[in-house]
Amino acid sequence: MKAELKPTAVWDLPVRLFHWLLVALILVAWLSAGKSMTVHSLAGYSVIALVVFRLWWGLVGSSTARFSSFVRGPRAILSYLRHMGERTPGQSPGHNPVGAISVLALLALVLIQTSTGLFSVDVDGLESGPLSAWVSFDMGRQFAHIHEFAFRILQVLVGVHIAAILYYAIWKRENLVGPMITGRRRFSSPVTSLGSVPVWRLIVGIAISLGLALAIARGFRV
Ligand code: HEM
Ligand code: HEM
Repeated sequence: MKAELKPTAVWDLPVRLFHWLLVALILVAWLSAGKSMTVHSLAGYSVIALVVFRLWWGLVGSSTARFSSFVRGPRAILSYLRHMGERTPGQSPGHNPVGAISVLALLALVLIQTSTGLFSVDVDGLESGPLSAWVSFDMGRQFAHIHEFAFRILQVLVGVHIAAILYYAIWKRENLVGPMITGRRRFSSPVTSLGSVPVWRLIVGIAISLGLALAIARGFRV
């Protein structure tokens, strides 16, 4: 067995904060749905801000956060799948080519979940998303149905996500959760650590995401 090296930085703080805040806020949106519309929408707007930030960070963030570093073509995906059953932990930082598909699917579904909520109207027209005035009542109801259906798909995807993490932990003996909390992981051969990212990129990302979420919450009214 090879000796393990010192822990290397694999996830930056914005990615980790994004992830755990996303989990917490989706939980709040779920628990408040149909009970408190104020809490539900606040959690939902915050999720929008988080996902907008993550899309920005996927373009300008540190190496493992970037879409260009983990979104791979069919050849890389197939090659990864061929070795996925091996009982050895992976030796490269960041999302693997198959995990990348689930990351994109989760982000897309969370976007569908939140954007359909914005146009949703409940059955008596009292609880509505901030953009529901842009559509007819019937259309608003359609959005509400898609909103509910999207959540069922999201639950399935999250189930698969957690099952995959358990598979890595139990079968491949690779703890993925620890690095998503601490940001660091040990490897048995040297890997490139995360480089630093200029702080202005973080500030611009926060400004864009908060600005957009606020504008949406106000229905784009000044
Ligand atoms: C990830 C974030 C979100 C999740 C997980 C979520 C989940 C849900 C769920 C499960 C329901 C169905 C509740 C029931 O059974 O009665 C619901 C209803 C609703 N949600 Fe969301 N939602 C989210 C974001 C939003 C956002 C951003 C808005 C817009 C402010 C919104 C507006 C609504 C409305 C108006 C309803 C009521 C629809 C009806 O009664 O048919 N949601 N949401
Ligand atoms: C609402 C539930 C959840 C959603 C929507 C979700 C979504 C995501 C997303 C979008 C990523 C990609 C992170 C990024 O690059 O920004 C991710 C990664 C990850 N998530 Fe979750 N997640 C959820 C629940 C959980 C839970 C409960 C756990 C722990 C048991 C977990 C553990 C992880 C880990 C370890 C990674 C990194 C995987 C890797 O190393 O490639 N997630 N998740």
